Amino acid sequence: MMAFLELDKVSKGYGPASHRYEVLSDVNLAIEENEFVAVIGFSGSGKSTLVSLLAGLEQPDQGEVRLGGEVVTEPGPQRGIMFQNYSLLPWLSVYENVEIAVKQVYPSMKKVERRAYIQQYIDMVNLTNSEWKKPTELSGGMRQRLSLARTLAMRPEVLILDEPLSALDALTRAVLQDEIIRIWEEDRRTVVMITNDVDEAALMADRIVPLTPGPGATLARDFKVGLARPRDRTTLNFNPEFKALRNEVSGFMMDLNEEAKSLRVETTYRLPDVEPIDLVG
Ligand SMILES: Nc1ncnc2c1ncn2[C@@H]1O[C@H](COP(=O)(O)OP(=O)(O)OP(=O)(O)O)[C@@H](O)[C@H]1O
Ligand SMILES: [Mg+2]
Repeated sequence: MMAFLELDKVSKGYGPASHRYEVLSDVNLAIEENEFVAVIGFSGSGKSTLVSLLAGLEQPDQGEVRLGGEVVTEPGPQRGIMFQNYSLLPWLSVYENVEIAVKQVYPSMKKVERRAYIQQYIDMVNLTNSEWKKPTELSGGMRQRLSLARTLAMRPEVLILDEPLSALDALTRAVLQDEIIRIWEEDRRTVVMITNDVDEAALMADRIVPLTPGPGATLARDFKVGLARPRDRTTLNFNPEFKALRNEVSGFMMDLNEEAKSLRVETTYRLPDVEPIDLVG
C-alpha cells in the first residue's frame, strides 16, 4: 500500500567527488496520513538534511521523496516547515512575520478575521505584547516561538518541525508540547517532528524513528508508541509502559553511539618513553 509521505531509498551527500561527505544513506520511511512521527538522532547525524529533503529544498542524490504518490521536487504550501534556524524575516515585526505566511495561505481571508486569526497564534506562543518587535529584538526562545507560531498558522497538511522547542525552558516547552498535540488532535494532520529528547518523542508521537549516527546515517528501526491518548504528562513518569519505552529507546540510541565510536578511527598519541628519576634512593 502506498503511504502518504514516503522516503524511498534516499541518499544525500555534500561536497565534490574527491571528498564527498555522505550524510544520508538508503533512508526508507513510510508515514501514514495523520500520523505523528518523531525522528530522533545525535547532533550532526543528518536530521536537518532530512527536513530539507522533505521540504523539497534539496533533492536526493538517489531515491525519491513522495507526498501522496507525487515526487516532491520543490517547496509547496501543503508542507509547513519550521526550520532549525527559524528563518524569520528580519525587517518584519512579529505580527508581520505571521501575517505574511497567513496571507500566502489564505489570500481571501477578510482583514478583520485575519487580525484575530494572527493574534490567536501570537497569543498561543505567548508573544502577546511583543507584536511590534523585530526578530533582532527577541530572545532566542522568543524567535523559536515566533517561528513555531508562523508555521502552525499556515495549518499545513504536513507539519514538519525541526527541533521546534529545543531553545525553550522546561515550563514553556511543556506548554507548547501540549499546544502542538492539541492542534494535531483537533484537526488531524501529518506531523514529522525532529527532536533530541526521547521523553518528548514518547510523550507526543505515535512512532519514534531513530537516525543512526553519520556519515551515511539511516533509519534503523522504529518504536511504536502505544500509550493511550490523551497522554497526561504528570502521571506519565509513573507509567510502566512509558518508562519501558523510554529505556528501550535510550538504550538503543546509546548502543548506536557506542557502535559509531568503535567505527571511528582512533587518534593515538605517542607518549615520550621516559623513566621517572628516583630522587630518593
Ligand atoms: N549544505 C551543506 N553543505 C555541506 N555539508 C552539509 C550541508 N548541510 C549539512 N551538511 C553536513 O551534513 C551533516 C548533517 O548535518 P545536519 O544539519 O543535517 O545535522 P543535524 O542532525 O540536523 O544536526 P543538529 O542536531 O546539530 O541540528 C553535517 O556533517 C553537516 O556538516
Ligand atoms: Mg539540525
